[in-house]
Amino acid sequence: MVPGSPVILLRAGPSPLGQADNSNQQGETMLSRREWLRIAAGASASIVIKGCAPAESDASASTVANGSASTAMDAGAVAQTGELITRAVPSSGEQLPVVGLGGANTYSEAAGEEDFETIGEVLSSLVEGGGTVFDTAAGYGASEEVSGRLAQELGIADQMFWATKVNVAGRGGESADPGAAREQIERSFERLRIPVIDLIQVHNMGDPPTQLGVLQELKEAERIRYMGITTTNEGQYEALAEVMRNFPIDFIGIDYAVDNRIAEETILPLAQDEGIGVVVYLPFGRSRMWQRIGDRPVPEWAAEFDASSWAQLMLKFVIAHPAVTVATPGTSDPEHMIDNLAGGMGSLPTEEHLRRMVELVESLPVA
Ligand SMILES: NC(=O)c1ccc[n+]([C@@H]2O[C@H](COP(=O)([O-])OP(=O)(O)OC[C@H]3O[C@@H](n4cnc5c(N)ncnc54)[C@H](OP(=O)(O)O)[C@@H]3O)[C@@H](O)[C@H]2O)c1
Repeated sequence: MVPGSPVILLRAGPSPLGQADNSNQQGETMLSRREWLRIAAGASASIVIKGCAPAESDASASTVANGSASTAMDAGAVAQTGELITRAVPSSGEQLPVVGLGGANTYSEAAGEEDFETIGEVLSSLVEGGGTVFDTAAGYGASEEVSGRLAQELGIADQMFWATKVNVAGRGGESADPGAAREQIERSFERLRIPVIDLIQVHNMGDPPTQLGVLQELKEAERIRYMGITTTNEGQYEALAEVMRNFPIDFIGIDYAVDNRIAEETILPLAQDEGIGVVVYLPFGRSRMWQRIGDRPVPEWAAEFDASSWAQLMLKFVIAHPAVTVATPGTSDPEHMIDNLAGGMGSLPTEEHLRRMVELVESLPVA
């Protein structure tokens, strides 16, 4: 994305400070899950009653920009006409659309197979549908290179929020050579073909002090706008929490899904307390949820929160959590991209809907 002017304020140094007053740097109060759901339910009610979007349901946590009329009865229309809900990056207040695109897995396979037409359509669908966030990594094969080139050719690179990752330390535990990390990041700049990368995260908890130190240098040089760290391994959650308490990071990337809710216990509340943005990975558990769902129809009550597909239902589950800034489901299918974006439009599930979703998912066969 063309750098705007987010005020990026860093924490003073390694300390468990964050926002002790539970506020972000705009002085906006972070909401509890319960408060959030109450407001979200209220916002959806106003959509239904007035037939137009609420002005700003809650600027501190999310907004629905220019949302078009939608009711519980016309959820299908949301995919065509809605606008994406946006959420504030806690460290800057910058608003990001709540659904983006993941560049690993099937997407990187298509990139590796040089299926440029499909990848181009997926990227165009992301941007045309109002999405911006694209999550990739130096370690995702051809993902960075192909996306960077196609986005330039399509003239959409400036409209995207580019998130990539560095890791020269393996999957955590081993030390990283800072020179090698800098080299890997320079390659990412070349492949993505952009002068400023919006977000670079340390991939899979690889040597956080060393690699976050390199990212801090780049941030101070204004070559990257935000920095963070990721894991999708529950065994690393404790170490992640330590980093969240002690390093001035803007984001974490974490696995979270309707059938994988461990992040709710410590990580998501901690992100709220510390004012750290959350990128949700694996919202479908890769193939896991698709296997569990099989050919079951979407429950009728999903229309009550404007979900007309399983993907929308599962995305609405994760973005209903107030700690979540953006979910980046991976896809290599332009129609799935459009479907996924609709998961960030219209109303959000209530606490009762969330309970029903969990109950439903727990009744499905284990993958
Ligand atoms: N440690 C880390 O930093 C880390 C780890 C894992 C993942 N990630 C990031 O998170 C992203 C998401 O994870 P993921 O891609 O592995 O898994 P995922 O998003 O949970 O699921 C992707 C799978 O769902 C399918 N799919 C997507 N949209 C669909 C739709 N609307 N309807 C039906 N099927 C749909 C995709 O197939 P199609 O291609 O056919 O749509 C693909 O098989 C990754 O791409 C990556 O950017 C980061």
